[in-house]
Order: sequence, then structure tokens, then C-alpha cells
Amino acid sequence: MPLSTRIEGSIERALARATSGLPPPKLAAALHHAVKPGGARIRPTILLSVAMACGDDRPELSDGAAAALELIHCASLVHDDLPCFDDAETRRGKPSVHRAYGEALAVLAGDSLIVQGFETLAETGTSDPARALRLTAELARHTGMPHGICAGQGWESEEVVDLATYHRAKTGALFTAATRMGAIAAGQDAEPWTELGARIGEAFQVADDLLDVMQGEADTGKPTGQDAIHGRPSAVATYGVDGAIRRLEDILSGAIASIPACAGEAMLAEMVHRTAKRLVPAHHATAAE
Ligand code: IPE
Ligand code: IPE
Ligand code: MG
Ligand code: MG
Repeated sequence: MPLSTRIEGSIERALARATSGLPPPKLAAALHHAVKPGGARIRPTILLSVAMACGDDRPELSDGAAAALELIHCASLVHDDLPCFDDAETRRGKPSVHRAYGEALAVLAGDSLIVQGFETLAETGTSDPARALRLTAELARHTGMPHGICAGQGWESEEVVDLATYHRAKTGALFTAATRMGAIAAGQDAEPWTELGARIGEAFQVADDLLDVMQGEADTGKPTGQDAIHGRPSAVATYGVDGAIRRLEDILSGAIASIPACAGEAMLAEMVHRTAKRLVPAHHATAAE
């Protein structure tokens, strides 16, 4: 079964849990708006790729973990777009959730998706509670304080910010969670998978910073030029465009080199190559070839 079918099916089941019975209709609609149609679903794709490379002996657990991770990501985007953060009017080519449903429902939609992420782990983890508990701790660690997305967004309220620390928490955390949770769902040690996730996450954030200056809203489906407008630290502000592209290529080569020896090693290298092709701006795509 294609990974996308597993991911969309598992997300659909989670959304059904969150909106079953007689829910407040507008909040239920806001949850659907936030999650579907998705973006690239890159985090759950990485999670399932690692799970398969590790044997994927409990696919229902891997699918639940993939959906949980993506729900947290979608929640982070809903909150990130709010007026008190980036005040973005669009996301994934349509109005951001607060633009479509108002701020109160956007706050609640983000909250509900975070809770549903953890509920999904609890619901799908009954076949192996020990692994489900490890997955829950892992997802929590990469979502909250002191090193998760909350910390990452929190750095934007500080005067002095270290770019690497900020990026590691804001974006890297969910990529590290993706590789580590893939291994845990398949009953393996998470540690050897930390570096791969961290490197893909770092590459991803550098690419996002480049997109922010090199592309328009028609390409990205969200406002661009935002880092400069909000005075955010970014890889482009620190290294310049060419320096950021070189850095992106270096990180991606390191990512491929860091894949642990396993049965699915070649498949994972192919997955990183595919990711790299999407990330490196087209006319500079040397490392991605
Ligand atoms: C956007 O993430 C937010 C960042 C961390 C830079 P994605 O580019 O993965 O967003 P979607 O899910 O594909 O829309
Ligand atoms: C979003 O970061 C990352 C989150 C933790 C939500 P950005 O604000 O840089 O990403 P975009 O450009 O809005 O997707
Ligand atoms: Mg932001
Ligand atoms: Mg933003």
C-alpha cells in the first residue's frame, strides 16, 4: 500500500474521532480545514519510511504515530498563522484557519488537534502499550518545552537568539521526532535515528528560509518575505542566498551519510534524495542529483 494511502487513512480516522457525535459544527469544520487537503505530509512520510526500514512489525502503531505527528504539525501551523504570531492570511493556498473561522475557533482548532494527536497514540497503541508510551513521551518532548516547537516559537519573543537553537526547536524537533518515532513504532532503539532526523530538519528549515525570499505566494501557498518583515533570524539573513544554498547541500549529503545500516538503507537514501530534490532550489540542484 502506498505510504500516502496509509497516512491519509490514519489521519481520516483521527479526524473522525475528533468530530464524531454532535460536535460544535464550526469547530469541526475548522479542524477539517486545518488538516485537509494536506501539504507535503513530509513528517509522516519520513516516520513510515523509517518504520519500514526497521521492519514495521506493528503497522497500526506506525500509522497512528504518523497521524499523531502530522496533527501536531497542522496544529502548529494554525497557531503560527494567528495574528499574535505571524498574522498570515493564507496557508496551503487557502485562507488560514483564523481568516476562515475567526481567532477563537483557530485557537481551539489548534488545541483540539494537539489533544487528538495524543489521543490517537492512546487509541492505536493498545496492541503494544509499552511502545505507545515511548511514542507518547517522544512526541511530547518534541512538541512542548524546553526543546520542542513551543520552545522554538518562544525564541521569537527573545532579544538574543542563536539561529541553530531556534531552528532545532522550531522545525528540527518534529523531524527528529519523525525518525525516532518510526524506529520506536517498529520496536527498535531510537538513538541511531536521531542524527538523520536532525539533519533533514535542518535542511528543511534552510530550504524554507530560501523559499521565503526566492518564491512568491503563488508557489508556496502562504505569504513569503515574512522573515524580513518580522525581523526573524533566518539562514538567508545569516549566510546570504548562496551561502544558505551551499549549507543546504552540505546538510543533505550529511543526512544520507548518517542513515544507520539496516535492511531499508537504500530505500531511505532514495527517500532523502527525493526530499532533497524538493528542497534545493531548482537551478542550484547539485547535491540533489
Ligand atoms: C511548514 O512546513 C512549516 C515549517 C516548519 C517551515 P511544511 O512545508 O511541511 O508544511 P506543509 O505541511 O507541507 O503545508
Ligand atoms: C513555522 O515556522 C514553524 C512552526 C513551528 C509552526 P514559520 O513561521 O517559519 O513557517 P511558515 O513559513 O509560516 O510555514
Ligand atoms: Mg512563524
Ligand atoms: Mg509562519
